[in-house]
Amino acid sequence: MDFKKLSDDYNSTGYAIARNFLNDQEVEALRNESSRLVREEWTKEGDDIYIFGNAFNAKSLYFLESSDKVRYFAEKKAYDFSKNQLIGTREHSISKIGHALHCLNPVFKEVTCSQKVKEVFAAIQFKNPTVAQSMVIFKNPKVGGAYTPHQDASFLNTEPIHLAGLWIALDDATKENGCLEFIPGSHRWPLARRFVRSKERKQDDDDYLEWTAPVVQYQDDQFVMEPVKRGDMVLIHGLVVHRSGPNVSEKARWVYTFHAYDEARGEYQSDNWLQPGPNNTFLPIFEN
Ligand code: FE2
Repeated sequence: MDFKKLSDDYNSTGYAIARNFLNDQEVEALRNESSRLVREEWTKEGDDIYIFGNAFNAKSLYFLESSDKVRYFAEKKAYDFSKNQLIGTREHSISKIGHALHCLNPVFKEVTCSQKVKEVFAAIQFKNPTVAQSMVIFKNPKVGGAYTPHQDASFLNTEPIHLAGLWIALDDATKENGCLEFIPGSHRWPLARRFVRSKERKQDDDDYLEWTAPVVQYQDDQFVMEPVKRGDMVLIHGLVVHRSGPNVSEKARWVYTFHAYDEARGEYQSDNWLQPGPNNTFLPIFEN
């Protein structure tokens, strides 16, 4: 892999693509484990379903306390709110699994702490890359929702900001099934707003997580689509503005993604929505 080019692209546009980062066998291992978790582990939680992106409700602790656990979130479009149940199978309805696969699941941990991941972080000058969270995002056919424009540092802020995400395609990602789209160069823009825990828990958990500023509007023509193949990796700067569309196709768009901050240079903020849990699953990958 050309780490020099990866770091040059990352520094000039705010993101970089490493083609064939994982081989077929490595992709299959992550795919099979994702599928097994949904089929065998999610069902163990019973009939309660947490919907990703829904207004926070009584179950929001399930989300709030997920930093050191493996938890399951369903797509809004896959849920019948009048009957309080999933419309289809769990495998079709799953939106994401988060947020400690990188630490608690050996299959995901192996990839997260692999030599080539370490070399990626070394190439972009991270001294002590520490993984704060990981997710499998499924974006399944017809139900997989869009991700509106955002900067990842809004969710995982450090002072100063040293944050990068690795986004690994487990399927081909296309315009139709919701590939990533970026505003090149936007990593030089300031952080527009943050998603934080408010100082005090109010009556409803609803009020506990909040945005520090209103949503920012961007123009469609600012975004560049970046379709990638299964096994490709996209390295994402914590400040670059990106989004992805809904999956309107018949083909799934599964990815494994995780975010690391540089513990040596940036202080993880105590009001970030995601805080280390009792198990502390924040993982310094150079030491693992
Ligand atoms: Fe993102």
